[in-house]
Amino acid sequence: MVRIQLSDKAILSTKAQSIAYLLRQDFSMPHSLLEVAQTAFPALTTYMKQMHFTGKVGDALAIPLAHGETIFTLFLIVLGKESDKKIEIESYRRALGSLIKMMQQRKMDSVALRLPNHQFFDVDAAYLAEQTAIVASMASYRFDDFITNKDRKVNQNLSMELIIDNAQQKEIEQGLKRGTIIVESLNKVRHWIDLPAKYLTPLELAEKATQIADRFGLRATIFNEQEVNAMGMGGLSAVSVGSEVDCRFVILEYQAPEKSAPTVAFVGKGITFDSGGLSIKPAAAMETMKEDMSGAAAVNGAMEVLAQLNPNINIVAITPLSENMPSGKATKPGDIIRFYNGKTAEVKNTDAEGRLILADALSYAVKHYKLDAIVDLATLTGACAYALGPYFSGMMSQHDGLVQQLEAASKRSGDRVWRLPFDNDYKAAIKSEVADICNIGSQTIKAGAITAGFFLQNFVDEVPFAHLDIAGVAYDVPNISYLGVGATGYGLRLLVELAMNWK
Ligand code: BES
Ligand code: ZN
Ligand code: ZN
Repeated sequence: MVRIQLSDKAILSTKAQSIAYLLRQDFSMPHSLLEVAQTAFPALTTYMKQMHFTGKVGDALAIPLAHGETIFTLFLIVLGKESDKKIEIESYRRALGSLIKMMQQRKMDSVALRLPNHQFFDVDAAYLAEQTAIVASMASYRFDDFITNKDRKVNQNLSMELIIDNAQQKEIEQGLKRGTIIVESLNKVRHWIDLPAKYLTPLELAEKATQIADRFGLRATIFNEQEVNAMGMGGLSAVSVGSEVDCRFVILEYQAPEKSAPTVAFVGKGITFDSGGLSIKPAAAMETMKEDMSGAAAVNGAMEVLAQLNPNINIVAITPLSENMPSGKATKPGDIIRFYNGKTAEVKNTDAEGRLILADALSYAVKHYKLDAIVDLATLTGACAYALGPYFSGMMSQHDGLVQQLEAASKRSGDRVWRLPFDNDYKAAIKSEVADICNIGSQTIKAGAITAGFFLQNFVDEVPFAHLDIAGVAYDVPNISYLGVGATGYGLRLLVELAMNWK
């Protein structure tokens, strides 16, 4: 985490080892940077020109300087082009991410950063401060629990002195506070995802949910495998039966301050390891399948945040947790199963297991709660990852109002969504000769991401529903400075924004 402290002192009086400016490429240097230059490097402007400091967003210079007895590094990072009237907040995120990564590479633990003018980005000061807190700590995160060579570790606990003028200090403080709450949970979620499947089974993940509930006053209900079987959750049972580890069905409930508030359900896929089951995956496709609980992790992490931010909306979070393993007891292709709502499915491929556990979770949600909407997050299909790559999740919904809310939350949070067509024509793909539906789509209709979405839609009755396929975005996203290897925690920021701004 990056610990941020506000300061209104002149930047040169900082005790930090480095000073950073995020700049537009027009070199219109902020007054305080001119002061730094005058004191420690009068030829700075010429130097910047010489070094072709005109690269793309995130490009940077690191200049060692001396000022009296103190030696410090001046970081200059490109934030946008000269022609930009308004700079996207995403450019700010990436520039800030570059700064944190540069500090870690250079083993620098502290920085003084001048918070840029929020009007640059056409946002308010609180939001800019919140994004600063979130992104700085996102960038500092690395999963290194199992690396023993100290030289390969980087310091994740950095400190940042954020230089502001006195105006709007209150708003900035509030934004920082909110951002810190969000990113603490976000990095925790990323750690759960990054933990190897042997350290994070359904039992451990359910335990994390219990801890959140206890600490922040959420109601928790957890069913074990015996109870899941007895309740008729045939999807979760069928996926878990091949595994040595028991499954869990976890419900967390947050209550709004007002009784009359709307109620929304968040559902997350929690496969702690997906081998494919008897329809076993090829070795390469299995390598990262500890990530297959990313949806569940994001949903429960969002609950931890929301329990602290107190939106006026009731939220039910449901996360079915299981391994998907082959064994003598495992579900076989051709088996027919019955879900919690009574519908049946033919399991032609045991690797399409996510929709099976989600079917029970969605059925449970609509049966036990009077819902205004359901949103699910799932690393559901390779097809979605191929279609959109690592930068956008696939959003499927027939409810324009819900889509608009998700798109707005996406813009604010930075978790990007892209709406896929979700037309009833695709429904024919999951017909079965021997059961109500089949768990894989037909060869002729293809569109694997969308047909998986239609499978899920069988279990939500009339409740407005949106499905987010996060298979591409949950893990190993290249070329975004504040992400890096491993888990991204995708979805937590999105769900938090959605709940906080629910209409
Ligand atoms: N967990 C996978 C999807 C996945 C792929 C997640 C890549 C993250 C990265 C899912 O359970 C799966 O195996 N889906 C199958 C469905 C198919 C058998 C219809 C797939 O996409 O191949
Ligand atoms: Zn699978
Ligand atoms: Zn899976």
